[in-house]
Amino acid sequence: MKRLAILGSTGSIGQSTLAVVAEHPEEFTVAGLAAGKNLPVLAAQIKQFRPALVSVQDEAAAARLREQLPGPDSPRILAGPAGAREVAVASGADLVVSAMVGAVGLEPTMAAIDAGIPVALANKETLVAAGPLVMAQAAKRQVPIIPVDSEHSAIFQALQGQRREAVRRLWLTASGGPFRSWDAAALEKATAAQALMHPNWSMGPKITIDSATMMNKALEVIEASVLFGLPADQVGVYIHPQSIIHSLVEFVDGSVIAQLGMPDMRLPIAYALAYPRRLPLSAPPPLDLCQVAQLTFEAPDTERFPGLALGYAAAREGGTMPCVLNAANEMAVAAFLDCRIKFLDIPRVVAATMAAHAREELASLEQVLEVNRWARAYAQDLLSHGRL
Ligand SMILES: NC(=O)c1ccc[n+]([C@@H]2O[C@H](COP(=O)([O-])OP(=O)(O)OC[C@H]3O[C@@H](n4cnc5c(N)ncnc54)[C@H](OP(=O)(O)O)[C@@H]3O)[C@@H](O)[C@H]2O)c1
Repeated sequence: MKRLAILGSTGSIGQSTLAVVAEHPEEFTVAGLAAGKNLPVLAAQIKQFRPALVSVQDEAAAARLREQLPGPDSPRILAGPAGAREVAVASGADLVVSAMVGAVGLEPTMAAIDAGIPVALANKETLVAAGPLVMAQAAKRQVPIIPVDSEHSAIFQALQGQRREAVRRLWLTASGGPFRSWDAAALEKATAAQALMHPNWSMGPKITIDSATMMNKALEVIEASVLFGLPADQVGVYIHPQSIIHSLVEFVDGSVIAQLGMPDMRLPIAYALAYPRRLPLSAPPPLDLCQVAQLTFEAPDTERFPGLALGYAAAREGGTMPCVLNAANEMAVAAFLDCRIKFLDIPRVVAATMAAHAREELASLEQVLEVNRWARAYAQDLLSHGRL
């Protein structure tokens, strides 16, 4: 029995994780859940999975949840960042599933690593904002970080039994999102509702917008570079609209190993939860390559989708720059979802915030949190004054 703490349990990854848990009650129990404000979903999860410790975004939500769940069987209900940290380190979990959205996931994920608890990591913003610090602490505490992101899971799977020095290049695949074939004039007018219609994956709103701008791939290039210890320029991107090949590893002898599967996050989640074993899953249906018929590939277009080029630029600069890219992007995506800015303003906000930042060497978690606050405030100022 593996005891899980799930940070972000009410989100898309959190719910898919609990679907895997529900299918394998002989393998997993739920020790703790941390969520934001979606109390109806969280209350149902508490009734089904009976965690001892729960946390929500703030005290007001915690008070409402306590009212909904009176009685001796109810879990301890905490609130705020301290509550999420407590769920990560004090629920008795053997594995923390880090699946909050945004840099807010950094502190509880770091707390789990500090406490020596293995992490199944979906929250890519953590590695973008503070990757070298996170990896150094994980190495020091000998804590495994198992990727959940489908591309990084694919690479992780392709690397099993391989020596790192045999790797020449990593290749991330990208669906290209809903605007893959749109021209620049159409992209200027793209709406949030259109951007939220991802062709292959059902995901939370922030990552869905990131997929449309290709900022998601920018974040993933940085994530892969940090996780697998290669410079970002050795991490390439193929547009692969069918989302069947989830990523590839090219070796020094020219061999390429890819991982294929239906686009369903339960696959990489189950792999991360049970690693190094594989669990049977009732869904999705098996991959039928005759039905897929075609696997196609294109080079990414960084003119129409400048987010990807910004990601490589931030990775090359390193230090605090990826944190700034991520923070500005979080602010810009929230503004776009609120219909306050246009689609192409998202990379403009990110580029302007990066240009205003004097890069520093990464030194501490406190410094990352401070840079994150600065970049969010700078981006907010750009957004409030329409200075794009
Ligand atoms: N979805 C995917 O298929 C996918 C694939 C690969 C990687 N990822 C990564 O996984 C992470 C989660 O993505 P998602 O699509 O699952 O996002 P999502 O559906 O938006 O879920 C986000 C989760 O984070 C919680 N949350 C947000 N702000 C919080 C706060 N301040 N305090 C506590 N909890 C907070 C939300 O709680 P409430 O909803 O209760 O407010 C929710 O449980 C992201 O980093 C994303 O890039 C996702």
